[in-house]
Amino acid sequence: MAYENLLVDVSERIATVTFNRPKSLNALNPPTVRELGTAMEEISSREDVGVVLLTGSGEKAFIAGADISEMKAFTTMQALDFALLGQGVLSFIERMPQPVIGAINGFALGGGCEVAMACDLLVASDTARFGQPEVNLGIIPGYGGTQRLPRLVGRNLAKELVLTGEMISAQRAYEIGLVNKVVPAAELMNAAREIAKKILSRGPVAVRTAKMAMNRGLDLDLGNACALEASLFAAGFSTADRQEGIAAFLEKRKPAFTGR
Ligand code: HXC
Repeated sequence: MAYENLLVDVSERIATVTFNRPKSLNALNPPTVRELGTAMEEISSREDVGVVLLTGSGEKAFIAGADISEMKAFTTMQALDFALLGQGVLSFIERMPQPVIGAINGFALGGGCEVAMACDLLVASDTARFGQPEVNLGIIPGYGGTQRLPRLVGRNLAKELVLTGEMISAQRAYEIGLVNKVVPAAELMNAAREIAKKILSRGPVAVRTAKMAMNRGLDLDLGNACALEASLFAAGFSTADRQEGIAAFLEKRKPAFTGR
């Protein structure tokens, strides 16, 4: 399917979704957010896709936030709808079976930082900058930034970022645990693909259920989260992947997983 504001490419079991509004630094307007939801839903049911990469077109920005010129005329109800639309899409990204890697190629601000935080892991170019600058506009984050940021980096660092609206470098984002890896800009997509390929070589059912255990478990108390893990662990013993993975280890050979 062709999109107006996204580029979608699938090769070698990796789907790359690129935000493609470079003139406005890939700012998120309602059609772009809707397209993201449609694209991720479509990808989620594709058996030929094992990992998704999210990135931005151009060298300057991943996503510079929600489209400020479109938000100018929002009524209160339109603002509510826009927040709920994006929140729904981001929670779908957390729930979809394939791991989603953010390849952060530049500014990841406001809604852009929030999209990044919904990814399972992040690789950033050394030119990337992160921030929740909404307070500069007299508004607050609306795609889960006030909730995911404290869960990711801790309450006080999150408050510093959200209440001052200041940006941080990719290196600082790495130091506080917001991103997994920082690489030179020219190496970004290769670095993200390397991680994707490593994940693709592992047991597909295990990868999928481990993502589910972690993302769903974070919303539960520890007891219920561990009960969820135990159920998923046990369910894994009915898979062909488990038989193959364990047999391959014992026979000292590489596993040939089938994802069944
Ligand atoms: C619309 C944007 C934009 C945005 C940049 N542009 N960010 N348009 N929405 N979020 C446009 C600029 O207007 C400009 O268009 C072009 O992109 C290039 O941007 P410049 O500002 O000229 O570039 P630069 O000086 O390098 O500054 C880059 C920047 C700055 C630091 C990223 O653009 C910036 O501060 N942008 C806003 C960031 C922000 O506040 N994001 C949070 C939005 S609120 P022209 O036509 O002049 O060339 C949000 C809420 C999410 O995200 C939750 C919703 C529910």
